[in-house]
Amino acid sequence: MSLRESLPQVKTELPGPKAKAVLERRAAIVPAAISTIYPLVIERAEGAMIEDPDGNVFLDWVGGVGVMNVGYSQPEVVEAVREQAGKFFHSMMNITANPRYIEFAEAIAKASPVKGDPVQVMLANSGAEADENAVKIARSATGRPNIIVFSGAFHGRTALTMTMTAKKAYSIGMGPFPDGVYRAEFPYLYRAPGGLDGDDAIAYYVNKLEEVFENASPPQHVAAIVFEPVQGEGGFVPAPLEWVKAVRAICDKHGILLVADEVQTGFARSGRLFSSDYYKEGGFPVDIVTFAKSVAGGLPLSGVICAKEVMDRVTKGTIGGTFNGNAVSCAAALAVLKKMQDEDYPAKALAIADTCMARFNAWKEKYPAIGDVRGLGAMMGVEYIKPEGGAAKTPNPELVGKIVAAAWKKGLILESAGTYGNVIRFLCPLCVTDAQLAAGLDIYEACIEESL
Ligand SMILES: Cc1ncc(COP(=O)(O)O)c(C=O)c1O
Repeated sequence: MSLRESLPQVKTELPGPKAKAVLERRAAIVPAAISTIYPLVIERAEGAMIEDPDGNVFLDWVGGVGVMNVGYSQPEVVEAVREQAGKFFHSMMNITANPRYIEFAEAIAKASPVKGDPVQVMLANSGAEADENAVKIARSATGRPNIIVFSGAFHGRTALTMTMTAKKAYSIGMGPFPDGVYRAEFPYLYRAPGGLDGDDAIAYYVNKLEEVFENASPPQHVAAIVFEPVQGEGGFVPAPLEWVKAVRAICDKHGILLVADEVQTGFARSGRLFSSDYYKEGGFPVDIVTFAKSVAGGLPLSGVICAKEVMDRVTKGTIGGTFNGNAVSCAAALAVLKKMQDEDYPAKALAIADTCMARFNAWKEKYPAIGDVRGLGAMMGVEYIKPEGGAAKTPNPELVGKIVAAAWKKGLILESAGTYGNVIRFLCPLCVTDAQLAAGLDIYEACIEESL
């Protein structure tokens, strides 16, 4: 059976002898500050499966943190990369026009979820770079200095995006930080104060956002409000549609650009190509979308989409970069997009979500340690609380640590998330087979049982 079709199988102690040797070399040469969760070495990977150098096979529910939506080593993507590599790798877009950049930008523009038509596409290399460029575009286009971001947000590790990121564990000792970044409360409904829910909870969070205009930056100085449609690092917390709609109205009232950071939520994960498609369908599209991670099936590529009318207001020469829209990455991205459209990956995400949500919700009934189950499409999180459960909702990161450790010993790669480290995320490649998904769910439940 090919690796692509196989089921998780652990044959050695973990890590095995060959993996151990690689990890020893890693410890010597790779800075410890680039922290690692698993003592796991990848030798090859196909679909949703990873093989280590000792022949152990793992089902990957993390996918390089949302990079592998299309699956590892898909033949069409590999072939597109091979073909482009035989022609040329690089073109500096300021010097020589790279047709692959143009073809990919045209293709993604056709699927654009943002407000305005026509749109233009700026390509870059990483998620942080895309987010940073979205802010630069918004500042230049509006002539305003400030931005508003949210509690629980993760936007990257550059100086600006580290500042935009909420969790300060990611920026200890890295100051001074850039000015002009203000923070409002994200609608984390499970933890809404006083158990508020429904319209009352939405009204509370909208009010919290408007307080920033009073306490920190008047709206006429705000260029952009930047949010994640589903917070990733923040704990897989979806932004409620009604809240996004209200934020859109606030932006319209004050001439502020609304930016959706789709670095983790993009490329079919949510049940649409972009999560922002849901907003467009509802009649309240965002102004700017950023994307990265899964766009090129594992090669570095990111981008910003917004109306040409907005892009036209950006001062010439202020955005760009040497490797922006690398030809090999763009060739891969074209193949990824075609495969996702031809095989309806958004529908695959919704089918996976149905299967998983049925199991996760059943577990919630069975195990008081599960406080919340939530998500958008196949971007799902299970939040764990202390056994006393109930209104205290005390986070239980220790239990999550035990489940994650137990799962990889059985061949399932899980990862935690969340401000309190008490959420287990689901970011499995969307090409996972039914048998693999069922095996993963069985391993996960066995690990909950043995970790309680
Ligand atoms: C929502 C979001 N934005 C931005 C980033 C930063 O992306 P990168 O690590 O490619 O810079 C991430 C990475 O996890 C992310 O999840």
